[in-house]
Amino acid sequence: MAERSIILAAHFVLVPLIGQGHTIPMSDLACLLAGRGARVSLVATPANAARLQGVADMARRDMLRLEIVELPFPPADDGLPPGSTASIDSFLRLFLDLYRLAGPLEAYLQALPRRPSCIISDACNPWTAGVARSVGVPRLFFHVPSIFYSLCDLNVAKYGKGDHDASYVVPGMPVRVEMTKETWSSSFFTTPEWEEFTKDAREAMRTADGAVMNTFLDLEQQFVASYEAALGKPVWALGPFCLRNRQDEEAVHQSAVTAWLDKMDQSTVIYVNFGSLVRMPPKQLYEVGHGLEDSGKPFLWVVKESETALPEAQEWLQALEARTIGQGLVLRGWAPQLAIMSHRAVGGFVTHCGWNSLLESVAHGVPVVTWPHSGDQFLNERLAVEILGVGVPVTPSGNDKAVVRGHIARAVSELMGDGAVAEERRTKCKDYGEKAHAAVVEGGSSHQNLTRLLQTFMRSDNKEL
Ligand SMILES: *[C@@H]1O[C@H](CO)[C@@H](O)[C@H](O)[C@H]1NC(C)=O
Repeated sequence: MAERSIILAAHFVLVPLIGQGHTIPMSDLACLLAGRGARVSLVATPANAARLQGVADMARRDMLRLEIVELPFPPADDGLPPGSTASIDSFLRLFLDLYRLAGPLEAYLQALPRRPSCIISDACNPWTAGVARSVGVPRLFFHVPSIFYSLCDLNVAKYGKGDHDASYVVPGMPVRVEMTKETWSSSFFTTPEWEEFTKDAREAMRTADGAVMNTFLDLEQQFVASYEAALGKPVWALGPFCLRNRQDEEAVHQSAVTAWLDKMDQSTVIYVNFGSLVRMPPKQLYEVGHGLEDSGKPFLWVVKESETALPEAQEWLQALEARTIGQGLVLRGWAPQLAIMSHRAVGGFVTHCGWNSLLESVAHGVPVVTWPHSGDQFLNERLAVEILGVGVPVTPSGNDKAVVRGHIARAVSELMGDGAVAEERRTKCKDYGEKAHAAVVEGGSSHQNLTRLLQTFMRSDNKEL
């Protein structure tokens, strides 16, 4: 019986976007699917395959049917896909570069002894639509951001912006979402150089067979149905994926970070990390450091090597460390974020509101100070602060360029304080954390959605037997 179900299990081909913020949730999804008995092929460029070694090792150890498929990445020629210009945004350049994987992916799929059951590709890989079509395999898109953001984005595309100068209310939302001109223009990719890619991406969403989202019903319930209706196709809420990720909990075992956190009291430490892409100039770095110091709260702050490249920035940081011995710990470079988040000593998180970070925090019941920088982060902040009630904005104005030490100290004190409002925020977040854990275990909504997803594609698999 068991053997038979393995034979019948669905085979998913996952196509992540390069870049940590996209590859990590996709490889978590790969483990999630494989952990439930599916066969998973996780597609990678040669460089990305090297970075996925940890996932491959874990899969082998857990005896999952998960393989990393390294595709050749043909060198660029002049025939770069639509939209290419000389002075192109580096993200757009990356997105367009990946169009070159279409040929190798198609060749790989054609060469398989049996067609896979389904392709799940990052929404930023619209070129997979043509591949799926020509091979005759259903395709779901995986969108990294929250459903709240994704729904706003879809509605803006559908109804247009209109001519609102100072502020703009996103149409078709079940709640009022009013945006300033600045946050509007950095939230949606609307500049001319993005136009063609965005069109391609939307078309690929329109022609997909459904969407896979890293969220859970109890968190974004009121937006899931609207998103499903707007897309006109199933939305599989399978998250939080991070609750499946065990890698860095292992890495941190008995590390210096754990030793430091172990000495701190319950829920007293504020964790500070702005994700893989934000690079603070020294001036802003100093404001963050002084703000944390001035808050008087214990802090665990992750600073990137690139942010302290200048000798004066290094000196400044060393001086801060000397002054705050006993209060703070500065980590340079990488941090085992999930292990930190799940440590009992951590009681708050200063975040740029990238969806992975925000969801990881909520899933561990840790409330946030929100400091969005770009893209979906502004709307994720709104979700955290206004809708979920688990966040304190770093500035009331939402202008991240104008953040000074006073803002940081005030927001951190407010988040970590003992007033009734702070207490209520903590209670709410803890409740979401419990719901997140309940969603992914047997009987939970994400677990059920995954069961149905597996069944859907198992059936179509059977037909070919
Ligand atoms: C996900 O689960 C919820 C609750 O069990 C259900 O209402 C919804 O239809 C499921 N979604 C899909 C796409 O099956």
